[in-house]
Parts: sequence; C-alpha cells; structure tokens
Amino acid sequence: MLLDWYDAHARDLPWRAAPSTTPPDPYRVWLSEVMLQQTTVAAVKPYFAKFTERWPTVQALAAAPEEEVMAAWAGLGYYSRARNVVKCAAEVAALGAFPDTEADLRKLPGLGDYTAAAVAAIAFGRRAVVVDANVERVVARLFAIEDSLPGARKTIRVKADSITPDTRAGDFAQGLMDLGSGICTSRDAKCLLCPLQKVCKGRASGDPLRLPVKAPK
Ligand code: ADE
Repeated sequence: MLLDWYDAHARDLPWRAAPSTTPPDPYRVWLSEVMLQQTTVAAVKPYFAKFTERWPTVQALAAAPEEEVMAAWAGLGYYSRARNVVKCAAEVAALGAFPDTEADLRKLPGLGDYTAAAVAAIAFGRRAVVVDANVERVVARLFAIEDSLPGARKTIRVKADSITPDTRAGDFAQGLMDLGSGICTSRDAKCLLCPLQKVCKGRASGDPLRLPVKAPK
C-alpha cells in the first residue's frame, strides 16, 4: 500500500536513488540525514549540492581541512553536527567504508538512533525502524494512539516496528516521511489523498488532527 504509493509519488530528492532500483550511496544518505536533523528539506538542498560537488566521496571529505568544512556548513546551524561530520568522515575513511548495520553505524560520531536506523535502512536495505517527527505523527494517527507525547514514543515505536516490512524498509520509512511532510501534516490531514485512508484509525475516529496528543503544559 505505502510502497506502491511511494513508487508513484516519492519526492524527487537529490540524495535518493529511484525507488526500488540501485541503493543510494551511503555517503550521500549519511550526509543528507545529518543535514536534515533540525533543518528543512528546502534549506538542506543547496548545502547538500555544495558539499557533494566539492567533496564527492567520504574520503574527499575526510581529507578536507576542518575549517573548510566548518565554513561550508556556515548558515545551516547546529554546528556540533558539522564537527561530528568531520570526525565521522575521518573514521569512515580509516575503516574504508561505512559500516552496514544499524548497531555499527550507531557507534559513529553524530549518529543517534534515528540516523543509524535511517542509513541502515535507506543505504543498506536493512530492516530498521526509522522514526522522526513526521513518522511519529503518521503512526500516532494510523493507530489512533491516545497517550500523550513524549510518553507515547514507546508505543509509537512498537507500532512502527509492527508495520515495517522485511524488504524495502528504507523506501517504507521515506514513504512515511513523505506522507508526514505532504499529506498527513500537523495542521492538515488530506486523508482523501492518503494511501492508508482505509486502515487509518485516526481518520476513522473523525478527528485525526488531534493526534498525536501533546503533553499538557
Ligand atoms: N527527512 C529526513 N530524512 C529524510 C528523507 N530521507 N527523505 C525525506 N525527508 C527526510
């Protein structure tokens, strides 16, 4: 359901390969996922283009002087990400390639649970449960999870795990992200365009926009 929709409607983003063809380059997936932490797709695009033109491989990035990388990052914000990018590139260049499991990716500088899962699934086709804020909202609505955030995160993860397929977990995750950014947004739920409309408990409840429930202040 979701994968068919993704094949037809995936956003054309520079770090993605065409769905269900060759897997994308782990370096590009890693760099894009780090840049996309706390930053919008629109803001990331020109930086991603600049970085990958100037440093087309992780080896090239690892060989660059740290000041140059920091200067190229200027404007994207959250500079600890840039310092970790430099450190991580050096480690991966020393290893020879990106590790290809979620557990080993998680050990690299700057890769938290989300990024390790995203790179494992998207770049290496591993089954991993990838939950960012968009996925969280889609899953909370799909299962009409009534617990409030942040406590609901555990249930959301269990539910996300329960629907993650064994193959194409990366496309599945990106499908959920695209649904969350374009269709099932925090202010709007365009249910009639959604491939999950028939099975969505949030929609069935009549008021999907109240989900996920925020903790009372
Ligand atoms: N946000 C973070 N990672 C993303 C991805 N791979 N595709 C779309 N939006 C994202």
